[in-house]
Amino acid sequence: MTLGETLDAATDYLASRGVEQPRLDAERLLARALGLSRIELYTQHDRPLTNAERAAAREPVRRRGAREPIAYVLGDWDFRRLTLRTDRRALVPRPETEIVVDRCLALLDDAEAPHVVDVGTGTGAIALAIVQELPDAHVTATDSSPEALALARENAQANGLDIHLVETDLLEGVEGPFDLVVSNPPYVLSAEVDSLEPEVRDWEPRAALVDAGQTERLVEQASRVLDGWLVLEIHAERAAHVTGLLESAGYDGVHVTRDLAGRDRIVEGRWTS
Ligand SMILES: C[S@@+](CC[C@H](N)C(=O)[O-])C[C@H]1O[C@@H](n2cnc3c(N)ncnc32)[C@H](O)[C@@H]1O
Repeated sequence: MTLGETLDAATDYLASRGVEQPRLDAERLLARALGLSRIELYTQHDRPLTNAERAAAREPVRRRGAREPIAYVLGDWDFRRLTLRTDRRALVPRPETEIVVDRCLALLDDAEAPHVVDVGTGTGAIALAIVQELPDAHVTATDSSPEALALARENAQANGLDIHLVETDLLEGVEGPFDLVVSNPPYVLSAEVDSLEPEVRDWEPRAALVDAGQTERLVEQASRVLDGWLVLEIHAERAAHVTGLLESAGYDGVHVTRDLAGRDRIVEGRWTS
């Protein structure tokens, strides 16, 4: 079989398994397996594959066909300027979370050597992006999952970045003051889990997905350590609930930011101690 025929077969297979972007994913998987760029898949379209190349391509395509997230199959994923290791220990960082980092950087614009804490850091995406783009920041990152924290540590090392990692429940035992508390807490309602795509429902850690009241508890806990901003990624249908939580807790400057699809996805508010 030629490379082009293999690419077509992988695309058809992934489409038959219900993968949303079968061509794109087939290109990414074959390019990675064969050590080629996506362009080279086309410039070498008519080249027959060796048996070793065909064997190398088979397993990642099979995994993706089982609806394992592409980021887990590839083993890494880009987030802003970072390439992060990604596997089942933590949620795959999402594009809307890049906008959370934009909000944090905008709110910290005038701050010198700000102290920041990322609650529920997962891969370390938010914490690492902030310290990479704001090198004088002192960044702490917490998670209740030791597996996620191990992955965040690997990502800090791989990217040559320094963050302080703490295993705890939200901000329990963490001492401020912080200029900014940021979090993308679990916010999928348990009634919604069955309707999620298999990539999310069957592969990503449940504890990273399902809302167990973390947002409500964090709004309260953050005020203990904050002299500055709380920035929260939220469920697109819960902006009114979360802004109400911040306002009744005594935060001011409460503001909602939309994602690129126009959905309410980020709530921020300032706590003055
Ligand atoms: C939605 S994921 C976000 C991961 C990462 N911040 C991101 O944006 O890609 C939520 C994270 O919060 C962690 N988490 C859930 N409950 C927690 C709690 N009570 N205390 C600390 N971390 C928690 C999960 O382990 C998971 O890593």
